[in-house]
Amino acid sequence: MRLLILGGTRFLGRAIAAQALMAGHDVTCAARGLAGEVPEGARLIRMDRDELDGLAPLAGEQFDAVVDVSRHPGQVRRAVAALRQRSSHWTFVSTVSVYADNRTPGQRADTALLREPTAPEIEHSTEEIYGAAKVTCEQAVGADAFICRAGLIAGPEDPTGRFTYWPARLDRGGEVLVPGTPDDAMQLVDVRDLAQWIVHAAQTGLTGRFDGIGRSMTRGEFLAECALGVDAHCTFIWADRAFLEKHEVRRWTGPRSLPLWLPLPDYAGFATRDTTPARDAGLTVRPLADTARDTLSWMRERGGAVTGLTADEESALLAAWHARAAVTR
Ligand SMILES: NC(=O)c1ccc[n+]([C@@H]2O[C@H](COP(=O)([O-])OP(=O)(O)OC[C@H]3O[C@@H](n4cnc5c(N)ncnc54)[C@H](OP(=O)(O)O)[C@@H]3O)[C@@H](O)[C@H]2O)c1
Repeated sequence: MRLLILGGTRFLGRAIAAQALMAGHDVTCAARGLAGEVPEGARLIRMDRDELDGLAPLAGEQFDAVVDVSRHPGQVRRAVAALRQRSSHWTFVSTVSVYADNRTPGQRADTALLREPTAPEIEHSTEEIYGAAKVTCEQAVGADAFICRAGLIAGPEDPTGRFTYWPARLDRGGEVLVPGTPDDAMQLVDVRDLAQWIVHAAQTGLTGRFDGIGRSMTRGEFLAECALGVDAHCTFIWADRAFLEKHEVRRWTGPRSLPLWLPLPDYAGFATRDTTPARDAGLTVRPLADTARDTLSWMRERGGAVTGLTADEESALLAAWHARAAVTR
């Protein structure tokens, strides 16, 4: 295949390029080249998709398949207008943030309600309108494409540092502050598995809307698998929502967060999506222990990003937790 990746200079786009090269395809990436480099063997065509004629360097090129990872409606509309006729398969990487309802467990991509799209004049996404902007992008792409709604993506080269916190933290061992309960749901996908599926979809002409994520697991399983992957010996100290909020521990990501924590029941549906259709359509996922091990190796060897509590913040919180428990005994 001649595959065009609109992106390809970091994380998922780069992993898709790498997987496609491994499968023997001819890979072109189109980006500014600011986020990073494309994998060895891929061709980078530099362009700025925010320019109205930004795709001009691709004029006259033909592709068997295109993968677009953009989050900006303007970029997606221009790409569809310029390139859709010249490629036989189109993948748009979307997100589970398109869904309107995060509370109801067990939802499926083909039936779940979507957020309202952004207003037609909106060109750029921001953090606040990310899900709505992706809905607009999906609409611009149309129904006869492969719409891959990714969930939390984990693995080597993750620029967010949020999954990386856990293998890195468990590797230090000892008492580990963890949020919620062992039964809380979690769901993620290894970047390499998602990339492989996206290449497979292009090869096989898969179309339709799917959630690109692995099976739902409990937080207890998540921690046990991560610990297995990095060969760590830890004691988990389960802190409840009231304690974490009182001590201003943030959710999901960023400084002073316990990464990947989303309080229940507000997010009971976020990490329990039914991914049977994706698995039936060829998505296979590696054991989480492998993702944890490889992410830790990447972090050590390449200085990969980590976000979350610092060691000092966690120690202070553990001391506060034990003091509280002593008072209530
Ligand atoms: N990470 C997660 O957990 C997660 C979860 C759900 C969904 N997703 C989705 O998964 C996808 C992730 O994609 P990704 O990891 O490849 O990274 P990304 O951070 O979304 O990368 C954007 C890509 O587009 C390029 N780009 C940005 N602005 C551009 C411009 N003006 N002109 C040309 N190129 C431009 C960037 O390269 P340059 O900067 O070099 O131009 C980069 O290669 C996104 O669609 C995201 O919404 C991610």
